Amino acid sequence: MTARIALVTGGTGGIGSAIVKRLAALGHKVATNYRDEAKAKTWQAHLKSQGVDAAIVPGDVSSPETAEKLVHGVEKQLGAIDILINNAGITRDTTFHKMSALQWQEVINTNLNSCFNVTRPVIEGMRNRKWGRIIQISSINGQKGQYGQANYAASKAGMHGFTISLAQENAKFGITVNTVSPGYVATEMVMAVPEDVRNKIAAQIPIGRLGEPDEIAYAVAFFVNDEARWITGANLAINGGQYMGW
Ligand code: CAA
Repeated sequence: MTARIALVTGGTGGIGSAIVKRLAALGHKVATNYRDEAKAKTWQAHLKSQGVDAAIVPGDVSSPETAEKLVHGVEKQLGAIDILINNAGITRDTTFHKMSALQWQEVINTNLNSCFNVTRPVIEGMRNRKWGRIIQISSINGQKGQYGQANYAASKAGMHGFTISLAQENAKFGITVNTVSPGYVATEMVMAVPEDVRNKIAAQIPIGRLGEPDEIAYAVAFFVNDEARWITGANLAINGGQYMGW
């Protein structure tokens, strides 16, 4: 496989870390962004102790200005970005009738507007070089909705709308654009759901357990592969069978 340069946003999180490790194991040079320098440095050192080199670049994906700076930071450290994984995401769960404008905006800015903010400064280079891979990490809850997640589900459904439009516009340029929609994976985000609620959700998963981050990273590596060049505009559900839309 050709070694490429990859940016995984939110790479220090549960699913993000697994994606960074997988892409690095395939020989790609991988970077992620951070907002908290001390936390990112600890994360980087931890990966290093496992034999994984990852570049870290400051930058918040939720604003166009900081996202552009972070893209330039990655280009400076590693070179032009061939693979972009829009993975950064947050939750602000609450039922809609109690939701504040801030809880709505924070989630839309970080999960959905970030796709514009980070992809916009990356896409022209990919088009010029005639090769690119862009993958949105969406969610089962963007496909089925979730009680308490009107903001999150809207952002995650929007990510796939972004995927299928970008896929059409960039197909002729050797760029594929796909979505991966994880179900409930055992990360800090899911473990923050109250235990009783989480247990009820886990009971709805036919495979009988929460997912593991690397089970999501596996699919990301699949889409990134050169041989996946005819797959674009897809939305791959990986959720232990909890939601089987088609
Ligand atoms: N369907 C129908 N009714 C529900 C319900 C559901 N799924 N969940 C809760 N309710 C009902 C409750 O039974 C309760 O009804 P009563 O008042 O009649 O008893 C009422 O709604 C209020 O429920 P709560 O007591 O839970 O209300 P709350 O305000 O304390 O909390 C909540 C609401 C924040 C939504 C909480 O239920 C919650 O955290 N739910 C989980 C949300 C979730 O799945 N988040 C995923 C985070 S991880 C992630 O997002 C990653 C990913 O991509 C999968």
